[in-house]
Amino acid sequence: MYKLIDGKAIAAEMRDEIKNAVTQFRARHGKDIGLAVVLVGENPASQVYVRNKIKACKEVGIKSFSYYLPANVTQAQLDGLISELAADNAVHGILVQLPLPDHLDADRVLSLIPVSKDVDGFSAENIGKLCLNEHCLVACTPNGVMKMLEKENIDVRGKKAVVIGRSDIVGKPMAMLLLNADATVTVCHSKTRDLKAHCLDADIIVAAVGRPKFITADMVGEGAIVIDVGINRDENGKLCGDVDFENVKEKCSYITPVPGGVGPMTITMLLFNTVTAAERSAD
Ligand code: GUN
Repeated sequence: MYKLIDGKAIAAEMRDEIKNAVTQFRARHGKDIGLAVVLVGENPASQVYVRNKIKACKEVGIKSFSYYLPANVTQAQLDGLISELAADNAVHGILVQLPLPDHLDADRVLSLIPVSKDVDGFSAENIGKLCLNEHCLVACTPNGVMKMLEKENIDVRGKKAVVIGRSDIVGKPMAMLLLNADATVTVCHSKTRDLKAHCLDADIIVAAVGRPKFITADMVGEGAIVIDVGINRDENGKLCGDVDFENVKEKCSYITPVPGGVGPMTITMLLFNTVTAAERSAD
């Protein structure tokens, strides 16, 4: 019998704690915690993500400053805005929604965000600190996965973890977090030979592939813990993950659903990082 990891419930519990921390910050420092959100262009998925991030800020009492820039904004204009936000004491976190239009250099933009305000944990310095297992702001989705495992009292120490996907945003930081928590980590990707053998050998599978129902029941060993980071549409346009949930679930000890699994944790960790950034700036 598998146990469903209820990301929505874990996120709700954390958001209550975050709301209290925001109230305490205001009482102690006499000012709001602020998050700047920058969206360039009109990518529909990005518009939804940004809207949800701003709504979540409001729910916990974080003040959001939103900037909607046209797709043809110049690098100099965007750089100028980020530099202003970097210097603004009312702004504790800066989030630039990715991907940016092709003519803009995302690495350059990220490099202008002070490490202390990089609430996405995407900057080279925060990624480097994560590799060194030092205090840092950690990318929201993988950090959310770790929180879910913690809340379920799943000890990853010594377990074989297979991360499928090697993106800078999810796969790489996910692998590093699991390694820092003493798991034995394998990172698989599109060029991996015999992915199925790796998966069958895993105690924990984290799927971050971006392909609907890519992980099938024959790839999952009995009793595995399966974490599904994917947000896709199936052949009927219905929201689904990277895991063929209906067929995989019976083999698992734990599994996350889509929707209601990792998704709600991602924005929660953004709120968490913003509070962390504000508290550190005030100390
Ligand atoms: N694009 C996809 N996921 C993310 C995220 O977590 N943060 C930002 N800034 N952009 C994204």
